Amino acid sequence: MTKTTNYSRIIAGTMTWGDWGKQLSEQRIEQLIHHCLEQYISTFDHADIYGDYTNEEQFGKAFATSDINREDIQLISKCGIQFDVKSRSNNIKHYAYSKDYIIWSAERSLKALRTEYLDMFLLHRPSPLMHPSEIAEAIAKLKKEGKIRQFGVSNFNPSQIALIETVMPIEGNQLEFSLTSNNVMGDGSLDDCIINKRLAMSWSPLGSYFKEDSLKTKRIKKVLKSLCNKYNATEDQLLLSWVLKHPAEVCPVVGTATPDRLAMAMKALEIEMELQDWFLLLEASNGYEVA
Ligand SMILES: NC(=O)c1ccc[n+]([C@@H]2O[C@H](COP(=O)([O-])OP(=O)(O)OC[C@H]3O[C@@H](n4cnc5c(N)ncnc54)[C@H](OP(=O)(O)O)[C@@H]3O)[C@@H](O)[C@H]2O)c1
Repeated sequence: MTKTTNYSRIIAGTMTWGDWGKQLSEQRIEQLIHHCLEQYISTFDHADIYGDYTNEEQFGKAFATSDINREDIQLISKCGIQFDVKSRSNNIKHYAYSKDYIIWSAERSLKALRTEYLDMFLLHRPSPLMHPSEIAEAIAKLKKEGKIRQFGVSNFNPSQIALIETVMPIEGNQLEFSLTSNNVMGDGSLDDCIINKRLAMSWSPLGSYFKEDSLKTKRIKKVLKSLCNKYNATEDQLLLSWVLKHPAEVCPVVGTATPDRLAMAMKALEIEMELQDWFLLLEASNGYEVA
């Protein structure tokens, strides 16, 4: 498999642009899309569920009124999580991967985003009940009709990927990966992306650093503050630089909706973190030195 490289190395995550966070107006969303493109952030990460199934529609409306060429951006979206919300007749949160549901969900995302195709379409989370052949039929149809260009997964471990790959190739995996949440370095998930040339994306690349005041984040903060001076960089830039140093060439999916922070994120690509500083931060996160 050849890794496709038209995705921007920093991906803009849209999860909190709408009802799950900043509640941006369509005008502000349009401005933010333009701002991202000015920073060379051209890839936007969506999921059907964001904003309780409302974000894609808002983004789509904003994009439609912009004068941006569809080929100048890349859209990623996901399907499979079924929430117990008013707009759906579910009794319980669950995962759905029948052929009809996958196709229906992809077509719904296309309509909401006002686009003819998704650059990459992901299964959001692995389900214990997923049938590889049924998934493959849906994906093959969507690809044949030009509705999705690439197919990937999210939060799948190598064994779950191998299961799906008995019937069809997987081109990307979006994983939780940050300094504070780095299990995917050890469970084979990032190795699998390197070996099989899959696009590796990391969600929540800043981890719990700005979200929690724990012993772990306190330890990291102490080290990070001194490195900020050394690299003339901000804490979020160094946290991204730590993720970027991994050989899987991970694309961080950054969640900020703050224009200045998006610009800062892109500048993190210019930081070359020294080997021992990378391990200093790993030690601070783990709370012990490597064996
Ligand atoms: N595949 C999956 O299962 C999955 C799961 C979760 C998320 N995602 C994707 O990943 C994206 C990113 O997730 P995330 O939002 O958790 O990512 P993140 O980039 O790790 O965190 C972003 C959050 O940190 C805040 N922040 C950033 N810099 C800060 C600073 N210097 N000081 C204080 N706060 C700061 C932001 O606030 P402001 O917005 O106020 O700047 C924002 O709330 C989502 O948008 C979504 O696309 C995927």
